[in-house]
Amino acid sequence: MSHNTQQKNSLFKPHIDNFTSDLNQKAGRTSSEVKDLLKGKKLYKLSSNENAMGPSPKALEAIQEVLPTLYEYGFRTDDVFRDALEEAFDHEIKEDQFITGNAGLEVIDIACRGFLEPGLEVIVTNPTFHVYEIFAKVNGAKVIDVPLLEGAFELDVEGILAAVNERTRLIFITNPSNPTGTMITKTTLDKLIYNLPDHVVVIHDEVYFHFMESDDFPFAKDYILEGKNVIGLHTFSKAHGLPGLRVAYGFSTPRIAHYLRKLRRPFFINTLSMTGALAAMKDEAHIEASRTLVQTERKWLQKELDRLGIHHWDSHTNFILFKCPMSTDEMIAKMLEYGVMIRSGENNGAPGCIRVSIGVHEANMAFVTALEEIMGG
Ligand SMILES: Cc1ncc(COP(=O)(O)O)c(C=O)c1O
Repeated sequence: MSHNTQQKNSLFKPHIDNFTSDLNQKAGRTSSEVKDLLKGKKLYKLSSNENAMGPSPKALEAIQEVLPTLYEYGFRTDDVFRDALEEAFDHEIKEDQFITGNAGLEVIDIACRGFLEPGLEVIVTNPTFHVYEIFAKVNGAKVIDVPLLEGAFELDVEGILAAVNERTRLIFITNPSNPTGTMITKTTLDKLIYNLPDHVVVIHDEVYFHFMESDDFPFAKDYILEGKNVIGLHTFSKAHGLPGLRVAYGFSTPRIAHYLRKLRRPFFINTLSMTGALAAMKDEAHIEASRTLVQTERKWLQKELDRLGIHHWDSHTNFILFKCPMSTDEMIAKMLEYGVMIRSGENNGAPGCIRVSIGVHEANMAFVTALEEIMGG
């Protein structure tokens, strides 16, 4: 049998069969996974960019109320969710422009399934959220990395434009960025968006946008209103404090959103997630309190890192990336002895760096005290 015939008759797609990266292993550890290592110490989990304020109280209340209905199939469609989103966007983005999903990861997955296949290409900009590359590869696409520019982690717009060709379909931009925490300005992103051909879509992953402080942030919404091929990504896992619910949405031009929504199933979003998301959207007080906590504590933490002489990047998110003064594995293990859980930047393309989430003041103090003692020792 010739090689070609074998391939044609094979049950297994080579790009899935040969794919070895394990998404589950690359995701951050949960608190229960480190319980035994804590030796009874109180845990300060600063490793997964969770909301230190906890979940939206309004979402919890609404979820409690809906529990008795779980015997029923809940929401056949996401119409009510998309109507509420249209309202939240002041009717600028219409209900038919949203793609809701079971968390941001699923919206990314839907975009990759919708636009990619073997022979096509995706551009990522390391350090970046590692998930983009994984979903692109399991859909058979080739991943081209145009790294952020060394130093301040600026976007290499010219490098990206030079890498675009007739096979390019998606460009993933995380902004404000995971893992660097830095922000790409509208002035910079304009240079990319206004120079791309029509067969390329930019996924502007702005899941941390609530925490940034800038007048020059390039909201995906504005490009979409101009008819550009942009997908914005928002989640309920960050400012709303609901990562356990797994609920998020993308938004784009009507053409792109309509196309991608064909990949959704009926009863796609479960009753608890839908109810929680609808209530959290209206919980302005919780969002505001979360934003204030992050912005206040971020300033304090940045000053403390400066005092300790540790190089860190300007953060617009609920975490800070810093250069680790020792091996990251050693730092992570030593921090756990103090009950502090932090994360290496390695999986997201920032080796030698540590990402620490911004917690409540007590947690941030525990982190700084541990860091000072570890460095002193
Ligand atoms: C940049 C970025 N995008 C998307 C997500 C996905 O979040 P979720 O799947 O919880 O909605 C995360 C989660 O940490 C993230 O950091």
